[in-house]
Amino acid sequence: MKDANVREMNYLEKQDYYLKLIAEIMAVRKRGDKPVAFIHTYGCQQNVADSEKIKGMLHQAGFDFSDRPDDADFILFNTCAVREHAEDRVFGNVGALKNIKRKHPSTLIALCGCMMEQKHIAERMYNSFPFVSLVFGTHSLQNFPELYYRALFTGKRVYERDNDDKLIYEGIPTKRDGTFKGWLSIMYGCDNFCTYCIVPYVRGRERSRKSADIYKEAREMINSGYKDITLLGQNVNSYGKGLGEDISFAKLIGEIDKIPGDYWLRFMTSHPKDCSRELIDTMANSQHISKHLHLPFQSGSDRILKKMNRHYDRKKYIEIINYAKEKIPDISITSDIIVGFPGETYEDFKETLSLIREVKFTSLFTFIYSPRLGTPAAKMDDPISAEEKSKWFQELLTVQEEIAAERCSSMVGKKEKILVESLNQKNGKLQCRNSGNIIVECDGDESLIGTFQTAEITQARNWILRGKIIN
Ligand code: 5AD
Ligand code: SF4
Repeated sequence: MKDANVREMNYLEKQDYYLKLIAEIMAVRKRGDKPVAFIHTYGCQQNVADSEKIKGMLHQAGFDFSDRPDDADFILFNTCAVREHAEDRVFGNVGALKNIKRKHPSTLIALCGCMMEQKHIAERMYNSFPFVSLVFGTHSLQNFPELYYRALFTGKRVYERDNDDKLIYEGIPTKRDGTFKGWLSIMYGCDNFCTYCIVPYVRGRERSRKSADIYKEAREMINSGYKDITLLGQNVNSYGKGLGEDISFAKLIGEIDKIPGDYWLRFMTSHPKDCSRELIDTMANSQHISKHLHLPFQSGSDRILKKMNRHYDRKKYIEIINYAKEKIPDISITSDIIVGFPGETYEDFKETLSLIREVKFTSLFTFIYSPRLGTPAAKMDDPISAEEKSKWFQELLTVQEEIAAERCSSMVGKKEKILVESLNQKNGKLQCRNSGNIIVECDGDESLIGTFQTAEITQARNWILRGKIIN
């Protein structure tokens, strides 16, 4: 094929073209055996969803997947930049791949994801790890087949990042990790610029998929047996902005809810500033939307919320929570919290503790503030020591443990619809979840995995429930 012909192809034609070429090269190298890929994903569900697309493309090129990097012809780390700890882990784990490359020189090692959209990090990784052949950022995902082919065919290192064209690429094949639980991206990027957060810089501006594309994918998932579908976006409540459709997130999820079938619909992440009463009403009147609201409040102090650029205050947060509790009495509420934001005092922190006591969350994702280069908060004065922040963090965990235990105890004796998810190898129990996303452990046969059951809750163990399957 002439270069000019390839240049004229659209991205899907190009994708097919390069995947075929990759398949041909690998067929010769592997002498008929299937090539194998090892994909390791760090960070949030958005990254998991991206990895599922990369797996979809590799699957089309004939690859199998392994959870052992030693077996692989292609190794990819999909990285996360949200906190320093996640980045440190990636640096350590990529360093360790050097031995695999020494043992198997033909293995191609690649890095992608959010860390690669930070120039200083991508360059540092590219320069520190010469055995890494391919580096590409989140905005280059749709070009993955071409980039991989270039690295494979030329043997030269390939580096592509900072490629944000603000478009959405439909039609990339997806190979989902689960067969009954899956992610469905409804939008990409974020426009909120919370002052601590790197996401808007590494995932670009917010853009929503057309509702028709989302309905089609939701229908396909439901018809092929998905029982638990999570609609994904950094701020799902502002879905539809700039799309030119008469739509809101509440309308979108309300329409999906009308698709017949036995399934749960979840969504994340919600932002309190855009979480509408219309959405709560839709949840209350729906058939399939789970009784779970993940609504990160980050801090209970209005002073800190302002410095975080969150655009809501404690009063507004409590108002929407109370409305949700009134309309959906057994709703399970979860949240994200940052401890030790620059300038936070113990008085501010106590406001966070009092909010937790007031709302009674079922569970919390708690983080110690981690400065991210290039964000406004990284330049703010941060006088509190790491030891002090760690003490506050422990205090928060202790308070939350008590609340979660109390919340779980109140469920003993109730009958709950549960989805059986897996077998816990450690204790031999079936690991299940209820609509509120609370873990319920039950005795039962592995054949129940992937099915809905009814369980009577018999015991509460901190934030986990024990139950007995009764149908
Ligand atoms: N430091 C600590 N936690 C952070 N988060 C985002 N950025 C940071 C940071 N710089 C947390 C927020 C967000 C969750 C996904 O990660 O709580 O909701
Ligand atoms: Fe980050 Fe705020 Fe956007 Fe969430 S809403 S991704 S915390 S900037």
